[in-house]
This record gives sequence, structure tokens and C-alpha cells, in this order.
Amino acid sequence: MLITSSIIFLWGTEDGPKVPKNPPYLNSSISISERVNNLMSYMTLEEKIGQMTLIEKNSLLETKDIKKYALGALLSGAGANPENNTREGWVEMVDSFVSESKKSRLGIPLLYGVDAIHGHSNVPGATVFPHAIGLGASGDAELVRKIARATAEELVATGVRWNYSPTYDMPEDIRWGRVYETFSDDPIMVSKLGAAYIQGLQGEMGSSTGTISVLATPKHFIGAGGTLWETSTNESYSLDQGRTPINEAKLRNHYLPPFQKAVESGALSIMVGLNSWGDTKIAASEYLIQQVLKEDLGFTGFVVSDWHGVYDIPGTDYESTITAINAGVDMVMAPFEYKNFIKDASEAVRSGQIPETRIDDAARRILTAKFKLGLFDQNTDQQSDTALGSTKNRLLARTAVAQSQVLLKNDSGILPIRNEVGTIRISGKAADNIGKQSGGWTVEWQGIDGNELPGATSILTGIRKAAGNTEIQFDENANFSSSSPKADIGIAVVGENPYAEGVGDNDNPSLSEEDLLIIEKLKSASEKVVVILITGRPLIITDEINNWNAAVVAWLPGSEGGGVADVLFGHKPFTAKLPLPWPAHLEQLPIAQGRTADNTPPLFPRYFGLTN
Ligand code: BGC
Repeated sequence: MLITSSIIFLWGTEDGPKVPKNPPYLNSSISISERVNNLMSYMTLEEKIGQMTLIEKNSLLETKDIKKYALGALLSGAGANPENNTREGWVEMVDSFVSESKKSRLGIPLLYGVDAIHGHSNVPGATVFPHAIGLGASGDAELVRKIARATAEELVATGVRWNYSPTYDMPEDIRWGRVYETFSDDPIMVSKLGAAYIQGLQGEMGSSTGTISVLATPKHFIGAGGTLWETSTNESYSLDQGRTPINEAKLRNHYLPPFQKAVESGALSIMVGLNSWGDTKIAASEYLIQQVLKEDLGFTGFVVSDWHGVYDIPGTDYESTITAINAGVDMVMAPFEYKNFIKDASEAVRSGQIPETRIDDAARRILTAKFKLGLFDQNTDQQSDTALGSTKNRLLARTAVAQSQVLLKNDSGILPIRNEVGTIRISGKAADNIGKQSGGWTVEWQGIDGNELPGATSILTGIRKAAGNTEIQFDENANFSSSSPKADIGIAVVGENPYAEGVGDNDNPSLSEEDLLIIEKLKSASEKVVVILITGRPLIITDEINNWNAAVVAWLPGSEGGGVADVLFGHKPFTAKLPLPWPAHLEQLPIAQGRTADNTPPLFPRYFGLTN
């Protein structure tokens, strides 16, 4: 068996059933199911398995392997940008991979995926929208639909047609490093905003083609926001990739409804998480994938596994491959050792450990999505060179920033700041730092530091522009001269440094000593102090907030810092509400469905937010 397989492995996918000159699957006037059936009739087992393979572009040993193994999909993992990280660099890179795939025996185009989770933030110069937690605070589905549409335009402008977004996780513990990727802990809000995102992203390329523009990927199926502290199977993390306690009622009533809505909204790919239900990794659960997702919810798209997730299933790589595919994973984000994956999967089918019907089902699901994207047809990947970071998209992002600012405290109506205010002093590490205000998943996986994003506006710059005749004094560390008169208002822009995934798991999310000192110094240099929190999650501020005159949660607003000033100066009203409860102390964690672990009230309940 081994010898036969390795011969097949060496042969790649050069041989297979003869294909006529103009095969029906290339004819866009017949139905997609006919096209898929026709294409599949020519495909060898290895070609079908090739379609099930998703690899990180930097793991591709040779470009010609795309053709040789008829690889189904490639991705840029976070930070895996082209060397020339511009629109042109992306177009060139993606095109080179897609053209190679079109040279394969059957010419099946590959799908290229990225995480454009707050806009196409991989590319400097793109519009960076507020992270999802801010959109959850806006509660505005139409706004989310427009943002997803704008993100699709910016993706298509770089040749990318697949986005690993939106996030459907519902966080129960603010110590988790992925809270900001989520809309809310409320399934009703997640269903509503998630559906709007899917519709906006997938949109349509244009009435003439009727094809999807960018494939959405609700993730992570299922329960990834409900993992328990110190249960991670990744030894560097605490919550991320951890265990979610099994409870069939909670599965059905709490976690499942948003995915039901996602399926109804036309999602064609869904990513399974790296977490476990009890002791079972989701990617290994035939019950959750085959039964619950595909049969009970009627999901007809394809299931993609998360980064290396298949190999996190206990057992040898060969055994894990069998478990995951039989559980219903259709596309495997290997993302490294693709030759081994193809070899293992082929061998498992030949030895009868994976039924061939399962491979056919997976290939059919993937190919159907590719046809719906119009990848086989001409002129669908229109690459506009004006969409990336366009004025229109930046204005939309600025509106979203304003709509996501939650006003927690406003003693004696200090906000909005009135025209007659003479002097404002501004301090804090996040006041003039676009990297910090954009958070993780911005150019790099763990984000960036400083003002490197072309076209972006820092919060300080936004305030300067909005301040009119008011004098603005800035000192990052609040070192203002004690001999000069106090300012009327001090604004401290403080909070978290960027992080992503389990790297951001934090046993005590709170303000640093350095931030607290800046606030103290600013207080003595100003009559009143307003604290703006740049943060991916609620922070423990129970004692500190008493010393502030006003507090605003800005979340991670992204490239358009001007939106913060819009609400501070009353050009727009404060309308946002907390999309999740804000705990008073750590003993309240986890907060499951609004109930704190110690039954004491949170500092602010979900949907709290002052208006003015
Ligand atoms: C994350 C996913 C992401 C994938 C691809 C993983 O580490 O868990 O959410 O889509 O990487 O970048």
C-alpha cells in the first residue's frame, strides 16, 4: 500500500480521465450543479484531495506544486504579506498563484484567503475599520453591511476573494485575547450583525454575473468564546484553544442560532475552531460537524479547519487526518505539510478508512463555492485600483468609529466639549499612535506600533482638527509645567497595546501602572479629566473610574481616529451601548449569558451606554 501510494504521490495529478476540448463545466450558461457534476466526472482521487488542501503561502515549497497537486486554496496567514505590501504587490502575488492553478490538468482556479477582520488591514493604506467589538457596540446592522461591502471592494482590489470573517464567537471571559474580534456575547446581536456582514461581503459582483464577490467565513464553529481559564491545549495560552464545557441545551439554544442564521444568509464556508467540547476537538466531532452543522442546520457549503487544527487532534497525523475528514471537515488548513496531507488522505481512502463518498462530498462543496464565486468564468475579478483606502470607505469607517464610542460616565455633562473651552491637555500612549488604536491583525498578526499607516488619522490629530479655537497641548506622558495654569480639560488616551489570539490571554486585564500615573499627572494639570480607553475588551477599572470626570470606551477604532473627536466635540451624538457586560472584578468571570460567576452585579451591564 505504501509503495503504491508514494508512486501516486510522485505522479501528482498529471493523469486522469480524458477531458474533451470544451468541457461543459467551462460553460457558464449551464447550472452550477451540472458544471460541478461534469467537472467531478473527470477528477481523480488525488485531484479531489488537492481541492481539499489549504496551505499557507509561505509553506509552498515550489510554485509549480500548485499545478502538480491541483491545490484547492492558499492563504496569507496573519502578517504573511507579499514583500511588496501594496495593492500592486498583492495583485501580482495572488495572480501568480491563481495562474499556476489554471495550468493544472483541469484548470481549477485556487481560492486565496486572508483574515480581513477589520477591513483589509493586511495592506498599509487600506481602510482599517473598528474591530468587531466596536461594531457590536454600534448595534447597527446596516452599518455593518456597508463595512463588509467596503471590505469586499478593498479585497477584490487586491485579487483576494475569500475572507475568514465574520467572527461568531461569544466571549464569556474578558481575559480571552480574542474578545475584540467578536460582536457581542448576545446571540441575537451576533445573528443580526453576522448576517449583515455575510450579505455585505458576499454581495454580488454585478447584476450581469450574479456571482458572489468575496466568500464569507463565519467562525469559529462552535463555542470558542466559552472556553474555561487554564484549559488551553496550547501550552503558551490560557483560554484560547481551550475547553468549552459540554451542555447540549446550551449548544442548541445559545451557540447554534447565530450559525443557523448564517446558513440562511448564504454562508458557503464555515471555519471550525481550535477549541474542544469537553475533551473532543471540534474538528474531530462527527456529531457537531456532520450531524449538527450539515444535517440539522442544513449547511451545504464547505467546512474549513483552522490553522493546523487537524493535527491538534490526538493521534498520529495520519489518524488525525482520517478523524477530521470523516467528522466532516471538507478543506484542511494544513497549513504547512501539504504533501503529507495529500499522501495521508489518499492512503486512507485507498485503505477504506475514509469512504470515497466523503471525499466526493467535500470536493463537491468546495467546487460549488468556487463556481458561485465565478472563479471559472471570465471578467469577474475586476480589480478596481481606487477602492483601497478610498475617501468613501474612510468616511464610512469614521462614521463607524463615532457610532461605537460608549460613554460610561459623564459628570456634570462635561461631554460634549463646548466651544468656549479654552485649553485641553492630551496625554497617553494611545493618543498619537495609529498602531495602538488599530490593535492586533493590523499588517502584522500582533499589530504594529506607531503612525506608519498611510492616510490614517490618529486620535490626537482628529481632536486637533475638531477643536476649533480651543488650544490643544499634547504631552504623551503628561509632563506639563506645574507653573502654568491648569487646562480646562485633560484627555487621557490610554489602554491596551496590540495583541492577537492566545498571545492576548491576560490574567488581569486592567490599566498599567504607567497609564494610571499619566492619568494622575493629567489630573493635577487640568480642572477635569476625561479618560478614553483604547481596548479590545472591558478592563477592570472599578476603583479608578471614581477619580475620573468622564470615561469613554473607544475600543480599537482603526485608521479613522477622527470619529472619536466627532463625539467628544458633539458633532455626532453618543449612541453606542456595551455589547457585553463590563465586570467589576475578576471573581465575576466567566459571565455566562449575562450572569456573573459570583452572582454580584457587573460594573456595567450589557447594553449600558449614556447618551447626551
Ligand atoms: C485563527 C483563525 C484564522 C486563521 C488563519 C488562526 O490562527 O484562529 O481565526 O482565520 O489563523 O489566519
